[in-house]
Amino acid sequence: MSNDLARQTALVTGATAGIGRATALALAARGADIIVHGRDGERAAGTLRQIEALGATARFEPADLSHPAEVIALAERAGDVDILINNAGIFRFARTGDTDPATFDAHIAVNLRAPFLLVQALAPGMAGRGHGAIVNISSGAATTPGLGSGIYGATKAALESLTRVWAAEYGPDGVRVNAVAAGPTRTEGTAVHGDAFESAGQAVALKRLAHPEEIAEAVAFMASPGAGYVNGAVLSAMGGQPALG
Ligand SMILES: NC(=O)c1ccc[n+]([C@@H]2O[C@H](COP(=O)([O-])OP(=O)(O)OC[C@H]3O[C@@H](n4cnc5c(N)ncnc54)[C@H](OP(=O)(O)O)[C@@H]3O)[C@@H](O)[C@H]2O)c1
Repeated sequence: MSNDLARQTALVTGATAGIGRATALALAARGADIIVHGRDGERAAGTLRQIEALGATARFEPADLSHPAEVIALAERAGDVDILINNAGIFRFARTGDTDPATFDAHIAVNLRAPFLLVQALAPGMAGRGHGAIVNISSGAATTPGLGSGIYGATKAALESLTRVWAAEYGPDGVRVNAVAAGPTRTEGTAVHGDAFESAGQAVALKRLAHPEEIAEAVAFMASPGAGYVNGAVLSAMGGQPALG
């Protein structure tokens, strides 16, 4: 593995599980120091152990992203970061008629307002130092209608829109902002769907679910100097669209 992120600090939200943990490990393997964010201290300890086994350094910063004050405090404790991965997210699938206001608000708070507040707090510092990379984790639900993924997909579509705006706002100062749209991926969060989730894998051209490490590699590429001229893009890591007929 290359060492192209040496001396860089990366804040990865939701790094206590799934895609976030795999991304933290992929960035650590490239030499970055990692700020592991999440809520669950036991899960965080597991991520820290795995990062330290790679010879990289890491620390845990807990925060509940539902609360704006906690998001802002997280950004303050994180300090000067070179890389921000907005990965933490929730997905509680329900059709529109069954989506109560609390579920609606929770998606907006965690999936959309938290990344917004983190970019607002951290991107100006990156711009002041003349470099930075932000990667937002999106989903196929941003662009493909799903029965039950309405408010979830809407938050991801909005995050993709903000990705393009932020790329234009901070790009002139050397900060690249991109998104990775993940396909159906085996994680702690999707494990609750059991075998039913397998069918989501059959709906993509590769005919299987993704491993979190496969999404993490795409995210790490977008955060790395190798993607130096990629800005405002949404990279599809969705296994491909099957052809009709
Ligand atoms: N898995 C998929 O099929 C898939 C597909 C497309 C996109 N995505 C996106 O990829 C991202 C990660 O998904 P995943 O499947 O890896 O999720 P996951 O296994 O459920 O893990 C979610 C992570 O987010 C953190 N988190 C959730 N709510 C939080 C809150 N209120 N405050 C702070 N942290 C919170 C969790 O931290 P704690 O456990 O420590 O609380 C955990 O680290 C999400 O944005 C999701 O929308 C996933």
